[in-house]
Amino acid sequence: MNSRADVIIIGGGVIGSAIAYFLAKEGVKPLVIEKRKAGQATCAAGGMLGAQVEMSEPGPLFDLAVKSRSLFSQIQEELYEISKVDIELNRTGMLRIAVSEEDRNELLGRIPWQTKAGYRAIWLEDKDLRQECGDFISSTYGALFLPDDYQVRSPRYLRALIEAAVVLGATFVEETEVIGFVCEGERICGVKTLNGEYYADQVVIATGAWSGLLASYLGIEIPVYPQKGQSIFVDTTPHVSEYTIYTHGTYIIPKANGQTYIGATAEKAGFDSRPTLQNIERLTTSATRLMPALSRSFFAGTITGFRPASHDGLPYIGRLPQYEGLYAATGHWRNGILLSAITGQSMAELLLNRATSISLAPFSPERLFHTKDTPVVSDSVSNSIR
Ligand code: GLY
Repeated sequence: MNSRADVIIIGGGVIGSAIAYFLAKEGVKPLVIEKRKAGQATCAAGGMLGAQVEMSEPGPLFDLAVKSRSLFSQIQEELYEISKVDIELNRTGMLRIAVSEEDRNELLGRIPWQTKAGYRAIWLEDKDLRQECGDFISSTYGALFLPDDYQVRSPRYLRALIEAAVVLGATFVEETEVIGFVCEGERICGVKTLNGEYYADQVVIATGAWSGLLASYLGIEIPVYPQKGQSIFVDTTPHVSEYTIYTHGTYIIPKANGQTYIGATAEKAGFDSRPTLQNIERLTTSATRLMPALSRSFFAGTITGFRPASHDGLPYIGRLPQYEGLYAATGHWRNGILLSAITGQSMAELLLNRATSISLAPFSPERLFHTKDTPVVSDSVSNSIR
């Protein structure tokens, strides 16, 4: 293959592939380089487009999330037309079940700012919940109904992005580890891999939890650390509920293939991807307490992935100031699938030197280099389960 590309994207997960897709739509020919098989973290993700359910306060991340969520209807149609892969966009909505008085009050407190921003957030007391959804949830504190928080099937979404990007001119190489960069002074010219060198004037680091390691090859510190998430699958045909049910520490997502995805732990475990029985027990107990009928379902498997957590809970999207032509799109933490659409679109705009559809200023990696101290990942980020 040609070792020169318009843009090199390191990392073939949902972020790198979304950038490749949006670039390829504009006639750019990106090269995506993936260390192993594309989508280690992506394929472990539940696929929630939880712009409202995941955010406990207004701010730039909420604005980014709702903007990204709004792109999915069109993306689904486009990807299907080009790749014939259905990403299974499910618009049934999400129920965030309160588990205590304190939780109820926190969730009720979200309604004013979310509705003021123009998004539907409806409170259901338990009797309304049963009337609206049936008797499948054991709840006593009510629930927040978010009709516009959707979900997709993550592995299919990734496949659709890759196949569509390739149809439009992108190239993906797998099993190719990047081990360094090619630079001329302070300008990036390409990357070194175990299979040789590849050249481009623009290089994007989109390697999720591994981004810090990649940047360190250039002496740059990007504080991203792996937060392990373990989930389980059960066979539930027919589904106990068509809604995505979300509560403290657990969510239950019905999928079109008849399985239900139950996620997820949030652990500091380095890069140890082994699933544990303790986690299976924790997820099972929490899910069946909420939805007792699930206990009759059949265990279908377990999966782990590494969320890329940033030091302040915001992703790093934009230029890295140390080298001309060097960019990062990483640190999306719990929201990689959700934020992939706006990250792909706005990174493509940035790389093409156009105005971005949303301000990337709050997410600029430059914030890392303006503090006197090296930012560290705080424990509130590392231990958080929303
Ligand atoms: N987006 C949910 C999670 O990362 O567990």
